[in-house]
Amino acid sequence: MSTPPKGKLALPELLEMKRRGQKIVMVTAYDSPGARFAEDAGVDIILVGDTAAMVVLGHQGTTVPVTMDEMLFLTRTVVRAVRHPIVVGDMPFGSFQVSDEKALENAIRFVKEAGADAIKLEGAGPMVSRVRAIVEAGIPVMGHVGLTPQSATMLGGFKTQGKTADAAAQLVEGALALEDAGAFAVVLEAVPAPVAAEVTSRLTVPTIGIGAGPETDGQVLVYHDLLGLTEGHLPRFVKRYASLSREIRDALEHYAEEVRDGTFPGDEHTYGMEDAELEAFRSSISPTATSASDQTNDAATSASKSLSPTPVSEPPLRKTSSP
Ligand code: KIV
Repeated sequence: MSTPPKGKLALPELLEMKRRGQKIVMVTAYDSPGARFAEDAGVDIILVGDTAAMVVLGHQGTTVPVTMDEMLFLTRTVVRAVRHPIVVGDMPFGSFQVSDEKALENAIRFVKEAGADAIKLEGAGPMVSRVRAIVEAGIPVMGHVGLTPQSATMLGGFKTQGKTADAAAQLVEGALALEDAGAFAVVLEAVPAPVAAEVTSRLTVPTIGIGAGPETDGQVLVYHDLLGLTEGHLPRFVKRYASLSREIRDALEHYAEEVRDGTFPGDEHTYGMEDAELEAFRSSISPTATSASDQTNDAATSASKSLSPTPVSEPPLRKTSSP
């Protein structure tokens, strides 16, 4: 008997996991296959991160250009694919900085139009009132402090944050303010491990680390980074669990080679037909191009004319996957 699919992970369960010392697993995903793989692997939270700008949409070294409409589109595809993990939509740059009202409007779009369970937004300080406004409207918010890529230019690049005593103290204050505003969890990105441990012990809500050492309540990695789909330089905190870009390149090269040398498609990928039908088909089109290789070009031309155009109502020979 197959086990029934698990229902949605309840948000308060994350608090219980923190209390029990059970690590929370979060990963990013941007499409249905990725989301399904994550759910099947037992991931607790899927973040539809604005890293989509770089890993999906091809922007170089910045998350800033991704738009609300693009994030909603990606979030919808993830939401459609999963039942159990909490799906968090990441608010893109420009969607929440202007005012509490604008932030709330856009957070509502994530829930209403994309079906997200929660949203995440970057920063503390002035962003704390955004978090409060969104939570007060009934939408769960995940905070994000430390390296906040949307403000990378202000922060001097993609650099570790909270490395001085003052900066570390500010980071702790920021995380506490986010919790006070109602955030259900806080991402700590690229901060020294002792600072992340301190924040984790002071907060009641879980911390989710990325480049924040082992003592946060959970971990998050970007899907493309951990699977080896990202090529080029990776931050120190990324661990690659597979080398999929190599595998994909090899597979595509192999395919191209086989198309060019005629190895693909083989008999096993090819549809035939009954001999009698084939015979009837051949004699129904006269003169034939296939059986009259000795005929003139004129005859071949007229045969090809008699075969085309293909009736528009004819069903396609194959859909996207094999029958
Ligand atoms: O956008 C993203 O993927 C993120 C994670 C790196 C936390 O914010």
